[in-house]
Amino acid sequence: MGNLYGVIGDPIAHSLSPLMHNDAFRSLQLDHNYYPFHVTPSHLPDAVKGMKALGVNGFNVTIPHKVTILPLLDKIDSLANAIGAVNTVVRENNELVGYNSDGLGFIRALKEEWKADLENEKVLIIGAGGAAKAIYYSLVYDGVQTIDICNRTPERAVQLVQSCPYPSQSNVLLMEEAEENLGEYTLLIQTTSIGMIPNITDSPISVQNIKPGTHVVDIIYNPFETMILKEAKQKGATTSNGLGMFIYQGAIAFEKWTGQTPNINRMKNIVANHLGGNSIC
Ligand code: ATR
Repeated sequence: MGNLYGVIGDPIAHSLSPLMHNDAFRSLQLDHNYYPFHVTPSHLPDAVKGMKALGVNGFNVTIPHKVTILPLLDKIDSLANAIGAVNTVVRENNELVGYNSDGLGFIRALKEEWKADLENEKVLIIGAGGAAKAIYYSLVYDGVQTIDICNRTPERAVQLVQSCPYPSQSNVLLMEEAEENLGEYTLLIQTTSIGMIPNITDSPISVQNIKPGTHVVDIIYNPFETMILKEAKQKGATTSNGLGMFIYQGAIAFEKWTGQTPNINRMKNIVANHLGGNSIC
């Protein structure tokens, strides 16, 4: 019999991870199964104990448990510990070990879809929530030198930068300053929920001053092309949506669980088809 994997969250019914991982298991002829588990916050400690007791081999963690699960695990990897959030748990020698593949998944997608060497890019991150933190820390960890942040609540961006345990130097900008200085950046990363279905005409920032050739990534993939991506394209920017980050965070978890590399294009296609789209990048 194969191994058992899953994802815990609240809500969980919408998760595309079961579709993606079960297809990857089948395509590699692995007899494993991946289930969505609806776990409310009050049941999280029991659910984690249950995962361990039942011999579940690994699981993903999604909203609202990514932060609160930390003290419930046996070990936390250093990057996940720095970020303060776990999205992937792996059973290692009968211990549950927490990892964070969100930021690393973002970087792998970006390197695949745009360019391999990011070190000298001038990066602006829009937003300072949990997703921005995973991406910021992972970019710093990856050696990117210039990463500025703008956020509606600038104090949150200051806090994010100051709490980074890796050496980093970043400017925190007001949204208006960021809009004015947009031409200085070569890579823009949109991490807020603005522009997501159903509010598809909203955009967090004006891209009036963007330079042609700048790359813009939105971590949203529903819709595939958010308003900021549409407007940036019209200004001569290249763009990526958030599907790549979702696929690669899953692929990294899959590799940790099985030691095998899943077929990325197959994963992208199955998720994109489910979302009703026909163009994936
Ligand atoms: P996540 O974990 O998905 O990143 P989060 O921690 O709630 O979610 O962060 C959401 C981000 O979107 C934050 O940067 C938030 O800005 P604030 O820190 O000012 O709250 C941003 N955001 C959400 N709704 C927004 C809105 N209507 N206008 C501007 N920024 C918004």
